[in-house]
Amino acid sequence: MKQKNIVFIAKSLDGYIAGKNGEIDWLHSIPNPDNDDMGYHQLMDEVDAIVMGRTTFETVCSFGGDWPYEKHVFVLSHSLSEIPDSLVGKISLLKGEPSNILRQIHDKGYSNLYIDGGSTIQQFLNEDLIDELRITTIPILLGGGFPLFGVLEQPLKFDLIESRIFLDQIVQSHYKRIR
Ligand SMILES: NC(=O)c1ccc[n+]([C@@H]2O[C@H](COP(=O)([O-])OP(=O)(O)OC[C@H]3O[C@@H](n4cnc5c(N)ncnc54)[C@H](OP(=O)(O)O)[C@@H]3O)[C@@H](O)[C@H]2O)c1
Repeated sequence: MKQKNIVFIAKSLDGYIAGKNGEIDWLHSIPNPDNDDMGYHQLMDEVDAIVMGRTTFETVCSFGGDWPYEKHVFVLSHSLSEIPDSLVGKISLLKGEPSNILRQIHDKGYSNLYIDGGSTIQQFLNEDLIDELRITTIPILLGGGFPLFGVLEQPLKFDLIESRIFLDQIVQSHYKRIR
């Protein structure tokens, strides 16, 4: 079965996914009167499950309200040991090397994954486990914060598949790993 790992994420011009204090309000700084989802629902139709780091999971939980995902979420953490009652059956906890984590997820029958969270994405990239990058760039310089990219053992080449402009301000570029 063909397996695919997709990153779908928004970053600042200077490459951060959250500000110095984890702030993400700037993601919504461009007026979006028609609530264009910029490909989010299409992505969700393409994936079977989501893999996210503990910090991103806690950010999602902090929004309150209903759990926003229909697909199963694998939360990566060394520090969490319990799942909130309301999320039993909707999330699972995993830890370890990305390749090991992927093996466990594939063994459960999931093959197309949305990989989310800065540190998580960096580790998957460092093991060359990302097949697609869909990166939305918001025109703001944050000057610091949580970086999208980190150090790699080796350069990774991608093909640009498509680049689109949303709301006259936001550029979204879709890259596929050349293997
Ligand atoms: N701009 C956007 O579109 C966007 C999207 C997603 C997130 N964000 C923001 O980005 C920030 C989160 O970024 P982050 O760099 O902290 O990354 P993250 O990947 O969300 O979380 C990092 C944490 O995940 C756990 N983890 C990661 N890899 C693991 C592994 N292999 N095994 C076990 N646990 C692992 C660790 O948790 P433990 O400490 O529990 O071990 C680690 O501290 C948040 O502020 C979030 O809101 C922005």
